[in-house]
Amino acid sequence: MDDDESVQTDDNKLLNNHNIHNKNTADDNKEDGEATEKQALSKRQRKKLLKQQKWEEERDMRKQKRKDRKQQRRQQRQNNQQDDEGEHRGARKRLRREATPTSLRLVVDCSFDDLMLTKDVHKLHKQIQRCYAENRRASHPVQFYLTSLGGQLKQSMDEKDKGWINWKDISIKFEHYSEVLSKEDVVYLTSDSPNVLTELDPKKAYVIGGLVDHNHHKGITLERAQDLGICHAQLPLDSFVQMNSRKVLAVNHVFEIILAYMEKGSWQDAFFSVLPQRKGAKAVATGPGDGDQDGDGQEDQPEEHSDLEARQPSDK
Ligand SMILES: C[S@@+](CC[C@H](N)C(=O)[O-])C[C@H]1O[C@@H](n2cnc3c(N)ncnc32)[C@H](O)[C@@H]1O
Repeated sequence: MDDDESVQTDDNKLLNNHNIHNKNTADDNKEDGEATEKQALSKRQRKKLLKQQKWEEERDMRKQKRKDRKQQRRQQRQNNQQDDEGEHRGARKRLRREATPTSLRLVVDCSFDDLMLTKDVHKLHKQIQRCYAENRRASHPVQFYLTSLGGQLKQSMDEKDKGWINWKDISIKFEHYSEVLSKEDVVYLTSDSPNVLTELDPKKAYVIGGLVDHNHHKGITLERAQDLGICHAQLPLDSFVQMNSRKVLAVNHVFEIILAYMEKGSWQDAFFSVLPQRKGAKAVATGPGDGDQDGDGQEDQPEEHSDLEARQPSDK
């Protein structure tokens, strides 16, 4: 190593020492600064700062807790729902177990499919669903038949309620009722018949016209029954419900009246357990009529109304 080189190395050492000294001084200054800053913070501010730090640190924990609580609530709701459904199912099953089925056959004749507009077919579909549900929970369920199923009605059922395939306690036939039942057993129910039912014979099959026609096909079911030489009769509404003229009820209302009669054994009770419920009528003398061919609890439009609906309280 020559002299020049040794001088340079010593200079570097000095420089390094100086740098180290400078760094230490900077660190010392920083610590001093923080300490002074801490000292400068008031006790309350320090507390606040700590609290904030803690809050930040616990953020994830709180998030997890919220998630857990939400999950618990959801689980609880599901359990409650399952309990409710279970109870309902249980109650329905109990009802069915305790029910006394009758031998009376009640038929909805669906052979008028081509006479109905699609919207009326949908209404009929709903009425049939209602008949099915009512029969399933009735104390004296009838032998329910659906005959001549096809066309628009079947399409509606296939599209809107595929479960109909699994319906229980019902005989669903594509054939006409006259091919399924013996003619002598059949009584066609129609408000146009001059015959008035006094009681129901459990050995008979009572047929309801599966039709929502807003009275456009007045008398059609009577005509068809006559053509086939089938007995016919109207419900004894006149004796219990005051009205001026014809009384055309929706399919499900007729169905429910029959179910109610089987249970109560009284026309009066049967009519007023079904009709006022739908119409809000209070008593025979003041009860409004029934223009609800839709069976949806809504009165039909004026041009579609039945005579029952047309009756005003002053018509008594
Ligand atoms: C909306 S009505 C159809 C009316 C249709 N124009 C007809 O000729 O029957 C639906 C069905 O309910 C039954 N129905 C309605 N009112 C009745 C009543 N007062 N007595 C007996 N059956 C009735 C009939 O079977 C009828 O076909």
